[in-house]
Amino acid sequence: MQADGDRAREERDMHLQASLDALIGESRAIHSLEKTMDRRLRFLHRELLTDIQALDQLLSRYSPKARLPAVAGWALSPAGLLALVDLIETSGAQTIVECGSGTSTLWIGYALKKLGRGRLIALEHLPEYAQKTRALISAHRLTDFVDVRLAPLSPLQTPRGEFSWYSFDSAELTEPIDVLLVDGPPGTTGPHARYPALPLLVDRLAPGALIVADDVDRRDESEILEYWLEEVPRLRRVESPGLGIEVLELAVA
Ligand SMILES: C[S@@+](CC[C@H](N)C(=O)[O-])C[C@H]1O[C@@H](n2cnc3c(N)ncnc32)[C@H](O)[C@@H]1O
Repeated sequence: MQADGDRAREERDMHLQASLDALIGESRAIHSLEKTMDRRLRFLHRELLTDIQALDQLLSRYSPKARLPAVAGWALSPAGLLALVDLIETSGAQTIVECGSGTSTLWIGYALKKLGRGRLIALEHLPEYAQKTRALISAHRLTDFVDVRLAPLSPLQTPRGEFSWYSFDSAELTEPIDVLLVDGPPGTTGPHARYPALPLLVDRLAPGALIVADDVDRRDESEILEYWLEEVPRLRRVESPGLGIEVLELAVA
C-alpha cells in the first residue's frame, strides 16, 4: 500500500515537473519573440520617421500643387525618392530612363523641372498604369519633362538567355543616358526580370552614368547586381543609401 502511494506521488511530481519545464520553455520563447518584435518595431519606427522627414523635404523642395499618388508598397519610399532626386539634381542629369513608372516618375519630373532642362523616358508595360502615370504627369504640368511610354513586355535575347522585357528600341535615344532607374518589370513577370536593363542599355549610357537599382534588399535583385558587375567591368558600386536602393556608376573609359 505504502509503495503504491509513493509511486503515485512520484508520478504526480514527474508530471508536475514536466508541465513546469514546458511552461518555462514557452515563457522563454515568448520573451525572445517579444525582444525580436521590439527590435523590429524600433526599426520600423525609425524608418517611418525617416520617410516623414523625407516627404516633408520633397514637399518643401518642389511644392506640388496637384494631388499626390498614395504612398504604397510598390513605389519607391519617400526616403528613396529623396536620394534619387538629390542624385539627379547634383549630377545635373539631362537624359533619364526609368524602367517601371509610378510615383518616382512624378518626382523625377519635378527634379528636371527644377533644373529647367532634361527629359525622362518612363517605360511602362501595362496600359492601365501608363495611362495613370500620364494623367499624373499631366495634372502636375510636367509633360515638358516626362514622356511615359507604353512598352509591353516582349521576348528578348540576352547573354543569360531569353527574358521578357520592355519593347523599347534604344536606338531612338538621341542623347546618352545620364541616369537609369531600374524599378521594373515586376518580379512576378519572371525570375531576374530586371536583368536585361543593363545588357540592353549599357551602350547607350553616358560616361559616368548612374544606375539606380531599387529593391536590392531582395535576393533576386541583389543577384542581378552581381550579374551586371560581373559582365560590365567599368561598372562599380558608388553608394548604398540603404532603403533597398543601390547606386552604380559606369566609370569613364
Ligand atoms: C515597382 S513598380 C514601379 C514603381 C515606380 N518606379 C515608383 O517608384 O512608383 C513596378 C510596376 O508597378 C505597377 N504600378 C504602377 N503604379 C501602380 C499602382 N498604383 N498600383 C499598383 N501597381 C502599380 C506598374 O506596372 C509599374 O511598372
